[in-house]
This record gives sequence, C-alpha cells and structure tokens, in this order.
Amino acid sequence: MLSIEGLEVAYGESLVLRGVTLHVPEGRVVCLMGRNGVGKTTLLKSIMGLLAPRRGRVLFAGEDITRQAPDGRARRGIGYVPQGREIFPHLTVRENLQVGVLGAAGGGREIPEHVFELFPRLKTLLHRKGGVLSGGEQQQLAIARALVARPRLLLLDEPTEGIQPSVIQQIEEVIARIKAHVSILLVEQYLEFAWRLADSYAVMQKGAIVSEGSTEALRSDVVKRHLTV
Ligand SMILES: Nc1ncnc2c1ncn2[C@@H]1O[C@H](COP(=O)(O)OP(=O)(O)OP(=O)(O)O)[C@@H](O)[C@H]1O
Ligand SMILES: [Mg+2]
Repeated sequence: MLSIEGLEVAYGESLVLRGVTLHVPEGRVVCLMGRNGVGKTTLLKSIMGLLAPRRGRVLFAGEDITRQAPDGRARRGIGYVPQGREIFPHLTVRENLQVGVLGAAGGGREIPEHVFELFPRLKTLLHRKGGVLSGGEQQQLAIARALVARPRLLLLDEPTEGIQPSVIQQIEEVIARIKAHVSILLVEQYLEFAWRLADSYAVMQKGAIVSEGSTEALRSDVVKRHLTV
C-alpha cells in the first residue's frame, strides 16, 4: 500500500530523515516507534506531502506520489491524524468533519453516518466548537475527520498522547474495528497499545530505521536499546 524508499528530508541545513525505507502492506498496521526527536512526525508529514524530500521516493498503491501536493494525496486515499490533533478550534465539530469530507475523492458531500457508530460521543457534540472539547474528544474528532474521507491508508501520530485511559481504550477499539478496511501507519510510544494493534513494528533512531519485524518478535532487548529513556 505504502512504500517509502531512501527518503531524505531536511529542515534548512539540518538533515532529519537520513534515508528512510519503510513499507506498509495492504491491510496491515505498522507501528513506528522511537525516542523523542528522532524524526517520526517528520516522516508522516513527508508521506502526507507537507514536507518535500531531498532524495528518495514515496509510492502509494503502486503510484509515485513524491511530487504530489497534500490535497492530491488526500484524494488518492491517505488520511492524516497529526500529533497534537490540530483540530480547528473555532469551527464546530460538524464543520471540522465537513472539512474532512472535502478531502475525499469526488469532493465534499455529507458526513457519513458510520463515523458516529465509531464515535457516538461526537454526535452529541456536533454544535460545539472544537476548541472547547476535552483532549480525548479532540482526538476522537481528529480521527473521525480523517475517516470521513474514507482513506485507504491512515497515518496516526501518537493518538494516545495526553489522553485519559478510558478514551485510549475507545480509540483502540476503533482502530481494531477499522483495520479490516484501512492500512495504518501508527506512531506510538505507548508500547502495550502498539503491541495489541500492530502487525509489525519499525524503530527509528536519528532519522533512520534501525530495527523492524513482526510485533510478536519485538523483544525486550530491542525495546531497552532503542526505546527506553
Ligand atoms: N519545523 C522544524 N524546523 C526545524 N527543525 C525541526 C522542525 N520540526 C522538527 N524539527 C527537528 O527535527 C527533528 C525531528 O523532529 P520530529 O518532530 O520529526 O521528531 P519526533 O520523532 O516526531 O519526536 P516526538 O516523539 O517528540 O514527537 C527534531 O530534532 C526536531 O527538533
Ligand atoms: Mg512527533
């Protein structure tokens, strides 16, 4: 579904991704891990087209999208849930979701009802401004906003960060339900969560993938070496 090949991305002179190669097979959940500042968010932004690479390629469903703008990638079926959620604080929940619908292939139509089956809470909050929601509600909104465009690939950047346990559990259930229809690249530092959801993992260090394999095979020595502080 997604192939990243030799990706190099810099902020000005500072090279942050140093030749990242990573694959997300169709129907799979891949968890990208790594300590703070190693370049996980930079990689997701590059996949979404928000940062331009110096070198390397991004292939989506067999097509080279390296030079494509973010809106084109969204229409092709890539959904993005940014770190820190980045919902629109002055728009209502309904309007936030409508923005997501605009990203869908074929342009904007109605908000599909299935997101309210996944996130019933949002249905009761439709007229609230995004900015007054709790962190957990905002995270649900951010995921729903990506899902209303019916993506084939979902990029999730630390969905459990700063979220209370009951909502984390709900988010886990949603991911477990949707993974039958959508491939997922999940950035997550909460190991247990990643373990339960992901088929495979990749560990990033200093802008490169240094370890990968099936989640079942993720051994404690790898966790100790690359992930603990
Ligand atoms: N807009 C920017 N301009 C310059 N440097 C940046 C910018 N954004 C990130 N960086 C730097 O790039 C490196 C990678 O940052 P990135 O946000 O991708 O890391 P991360 O792995 O997502 O970290 P975290 O776990 O804290 O979210 C860091 O050293 C960071 O300081
Ligand atoms: Mg990050």
